[in-house]
Amino acid sequence: MIRHFLFFTLFFLFWACEAPSNNDPIKGEVSGEMVYKNYCLTCHGPKGNNKVANKLMLNQSELPDSLMRTKILYGAGSGMPAYKKMLSEEEVTAVIHHIKTLRN
Ligand code: HEC
Repeated sequence: MIRHFLFFTLFFLFWACEAPSNNDPIKGEVSGEMVYKNYCLTCHGPKGNNKVANKLMLNQSELPDSLMRTKILYGAGSGMPAYKKMLSEEEVTAVIHHIKTLRN
């Protein structure tokens, strides 16, 4: 019995310590929503509805995909970090797609 408990605890710790993953474990593919939650939400807000640097709300951004990609990869203005070293092409594509679902 106690063995089971220990095993479970170890498993839980192992699971909890794993680095945040941008993959959707159910679909087994890169999830734009996970990328967004891990990297973008703190500044841009849960629905792209934070006003950052007194500038824009991401859910109102009208930028075409290609320009969004450039800003995400290389950063922009005052405070938008560059993600070239952190995100794969696939992850950038997925997060752009996710941002567009936040538009209303
Ligand atoms: C540290 C805060 C911060 C984080 C984290 C952050 N951003 Fe930004 N982002 C900004 C700021 C500030 C701007 C406005 C830059 C400017 O034009 O001065 C911006 C601008 C943008 C723009 C341009 C929108 C437009 O219409 O000009 C896009 C697209 C964008 N961010 C996407 C993302 C994505 C995707 C992520 C996560 C991978 C992310 N941001 C993470 C602060 C952040």
